[in-house]
Amino acid sequence: MKVIVTQPVYDESLDLLRRAGVHVKRLDRPEPLGSQELAAACEGADAVMTQLTDRVDASVLAANPNLRLVANIAAGFDNIDIEAARRAGVIVTNTPGVLTDATADLAFALILAAARRIPEGDQMMRSGGYHGWRLLQQPMGMDVSGTTIGIVGMGRVGQAVARRARLGFDMTVLYTDVATVPSIEAETGARLVELPELLAASDFVSLHAPLIAQTRHLIDAEALRTMKSSAVLINTARGPLIDEHALADAIASGVIAGAGLDVFESEPQVAPALLGLRERVVLLPHVGSATVRTRRRMVDMAVANVLAHLEGRPPFNVVV
Ligand code: GLV
Repeated sequence: MKVIVTQPVYDESLDLLRRAGVHVKRLDRPEPLGSQELAAACEGADAVMTQLTDRVDASVLAANPNLRLVANIAAGFDNIDIEAARRAGVIVTNTPGVLTDATADLAFALILAAARRIPEGDQMMRSGGYHGWRLLQQPMGMDVSGTTIGIVGMGRVGQAVARRARLGFDMTVLYTDVATVPSIEAETGARLVELPELLAASDFVSLHAPLIAQTRHLIDAEALRTMKSSAVLINTARGPLIDEHALADAIASGVIAGAGLDVFESEPQVAPALLGLRERVVLLPHVGSATVRTRRRMVDMAVANVLAHLEGRPPFNVVV
């Protein structure tokens, strides 16, 4: 049995596979592979452990008849052509759950950082701009506690954000999803609404939807125009949910007040217009799940999926 690991991971997590007699080939490329290179690298492999920057398209899935499992080390799987996997009979797994709290924590870090202008205050301190406490001092922030949050996508992370919002910050919670989530409504008083109502009523809008055809550019110029001018948009899900250029325009022209973004449309690129905005705009390098414990658990979970498959058991986190 042979397993390809496309990019660096915690090596000790792979020992479980090695002990089971699996030949583990670490490619350890510092940069993600293109799909042609990935197809060639998967030669003779039974399974491949991929990361969200690897593009697994039909050519990768068809290149090697032995390849029966793609274990993505991420909760999201928009980097994989799921339809092509279904057609080719290749199982795809992901790593849900283990990154829920880390990602929800980061969504709140962005809410607080943008609202209370933490990077701006930090920059002021380092540049010698602090000349003592004043009642009317800068940077002056906006309240988080007691405000309204709109959660777009009430999956695991959305629910963890709702709990933090309600229990930690006494926020009113609105949400959109394809169906009601009665348990989170009971727990937090969250109310299911249509997207236009959520956008119009929320002080903070936090995105937690998967990237699929229907959610691409869900937040475009028109959607932004319906938000409060004091609102802050948070994205820890996937960059293409937002039209990044429209967002930069909306903030620059005061249509909304700011944004906290951990993901971008064409990572690692960021729209230059966004980079130029500093007031209430906080940008992070896709670190939603980036704590050692969480990233380690993600790798362990992917390894467990591979091992189950190679031992003839159903993997735990099958997407397709
Ligand atoms: C991170 O973005 C993930 O989907 O795991």
